[in-house]
Amino acid sequence: MKNKKPIFSGADAILHGGDYNPDQWLDCPEVLEEDFRLMKAAGCNTFSLGIFSWTRYEREEGVYDFGWLDRIMDRMAAEGHHILLATPSGAKPAWMSLKYPEIRRVNRDGQREPHKTRHNHCWSSPVYREKVRRLNTALAERYKDHPALALWHVSNEYNGACFCDLCLQAFRSWLQEKYGTLDQLNKRWWTAFWNHTFTAWEEIDPRDPSMDALQTDWSRFHTDQVIDFYRAECEPLNRICPDVPKTTNLMGFFGPLNYWELTRHLDVISDDSYPCLDRNRPDLWKDVADLAMTHSFLRTAARRTGRPWFLMESSPSIVQWKPATLKAPGQHEAEVLHAIANGAEGVLYFQWRKGAGGFEKFHGAVVDHDAREPLRVFQDVAATGKRLAELTEIHGSDVLAEAAVVYDWESRWQLRDSCGTLSHSLTGGKDAGYTPQEHYRELWRRSIATDVISIEQDFSSYRLIIAPQLFMLKPGVAEKIRRFVENGGVFVGTYYTGYVNEDGICWRGGWPGDGLRDVFGVRNEEYDLVPPGEQKEIRFQDGAVGSGTKICELLHAEGAEILAEYAEDFYAGMPVVTRNPFGKGFAFYAATALDQNGIRLFYDRILECAALSPPIPVADKPDPLAVCSRENESGDRYVFLTNWSGVPLTADLGEGRIKTFGGETVLAGKTVLSPFQCVAGKWEKPQ
Ligand code: GLA
Ligand code: ZN
Repeated sequence: MKNKKPIFSGADAILHGGDYNPDQWLDCPEVLEEDFRLMKAAGCNTFSLGIFSWTRYEREEGVYDFGWLDRIMDRMAAEGHHILLATPSGAKPAWMSLKYPEIRRVNRDGQREPHKTRHNHCWSSPVYREKVRRLNTALAERYKDHPALALWHVSNEYNGACFCDLCLQAFRSWLQEKYGTLDQLNKRWWTAFWNHTFTAWEEIDPRDPSMDALQTDWSRFHTDQVIDFYRAECEPLNRICPDVPKTTNLMGFFGPLNYWELTRHLDVISDDSYPCLDRNRPDLWKDVADLAMTHSFLRTAARRTGRPWFLMESSPSIVQWKPATLKAPGQHEAEVLHAIANGAEGVLYFQWRKGAGGFEKFHGAVVDHDAREPLRVFQDVAATGKRLAELTEIHGSDVLAEAAVVYDWESRWQLRDSCGTLSHSLTGGKDAGYTPQEHYRELWRRSIATDVISIEQDFSSYRLIIAPQLFMLKPGVAEKIRRFVENGGVFVGTYYTGYVNEDGICWRGGWPGDGLRDVFGVRNEEYDLVPPGEQKEIRFQDGAVGSGTKICELLHAEGAEILAEYAEDFYAGMPVVTRNPFGKGFAFYAATALDQNGIRLFYDRILECAALSPPIPVADKPDPLAVCSRENESGDRYVFLTNWSGVPLTADLGEGRIKTFGGETVLAGKTVLSPFQCVAGKWEKPQ
């Protein structure tokens, strides 16, 4: 389960750097000189180049000029920096858009878009694929032996759909491949409703929002289409540079793409992360926990690659497209170490130097319009660079988790696509209903290391698996859960579990469907919705009280022990929190979105049953004090303690001690951490 290889060969320090766009400054050689000096001063070692430089390489069709890139690459090599060289397909040249209209996307209304912004090419166009192939071939041929080339940064934040005839045709072929005949498709999609029966493949249009099976299949197809594009981009890179790994930068839990599928094809996992943590928010720690959940997803996805993940982009300051606040002194460093504590081995920024013009001229960057070194943000980055340089010892260590939360894109899509109250969950609009964060946060608060896994993944290394809102049960999933519990696992299900099958067809005969009624020992007969701001009291058997929000399912216990009941409304006395002994294990169920008190009471019982406790015990730990750790194969444990509040907090380590990185300081007993301070080092267990 441990990371074996570095991110790329030669990555012997934690990566630190950013998107570097010298092509915007070629007429200012003094700026470039200043950059190289400042890069050293900031403790940076890794830069992405050429993400949006296509027209610089190919002003005229088929005529390539890489002169400026040669010079920068050579200089980078001389400086000892690593280069993540981009393929520039994320922004096509304007001349190409005019000459070949088919490469421009068609929107939902059927209009071909003009040449504008970026990230807007058609996924299917053979012309675009050919242009990309040629350019990628030329880049690979030219730099295959360059000492600075470390990793391919393939395209940028793949996103957005195209509805041109080529893409619609590709979707229909995909459906034909999946279903074989229209009769099959009509049956599985329940098309008799509203007279949606199809008599020819050409009749199928993904822009019909009223068919949930169609929408979910479109999202599946779109994921496959993006993967296919990625693979096409990689073909020349694989062939010409077989030893240089490749990544494409992800966007956390980006809704439209199933990243469990895309990440199967990446050599390295990298993410773009702009959490915009509001330093003045009283329960900032909840946002920090949500960010940790994203990091945990990346870490788990990265495990399949055998290399650690890293942040390809983040901001050392504000994010101009969000109503973001400045980062308080120390906050940036804490955010960077937060990623490292969660398994990352690199942090890069968007971007190195602010462009004087362009859409993002006000976005935070390491070097500001005023490039003097003493500027606060630059100093924060430089201090972070020093800190990262002390961490080489953590290479190869990983977060070892016995608990996991399932993140299921397909359940999210079906919740989104099923018409009505479910998809909205009475709050935030469509696609706001899927919130596994509620559960991850509670484990994070208790310093229980938790992975984020897919429902397909092997369950065997976990003692506790939580699958919030597992709305869709694909073939084999219920059976897998049953086996996990039978063999002694503790499994947690919640409201919205097992309503539909892989086609969005409702399971009949009582929910949770496909045999999970037995495993949970409950039957969910109806659900009531709780408007925002309202709640329903629930009472645990020992008298402790919490509340249910959003949705209250009306359960019948069919063998499960009742841990809590509804205490109001006409369903007072019906079960709401249950536990079913099944085989050698237990299955818990929460029939409502528990409030903070309720979820605490729920997890008191779950963790006791799973016999899980935090690896680094801190007595009376306040919620905003984060305690994370990584372990290596020899059993060395590295701990990261962070204060995510605006006031000093005390960490009581008891008999445990931390030997801090970089210094010889040993902390023991009670340690006071100032706001955003992160103490990190090797853990010395109490004897
Ligand atoms: C994204 C893009 C970058 C930049 C940043 C700004 O992550 O990949 O090119 O636009 O956002 O936050
Ligand atoms: Zn298209």
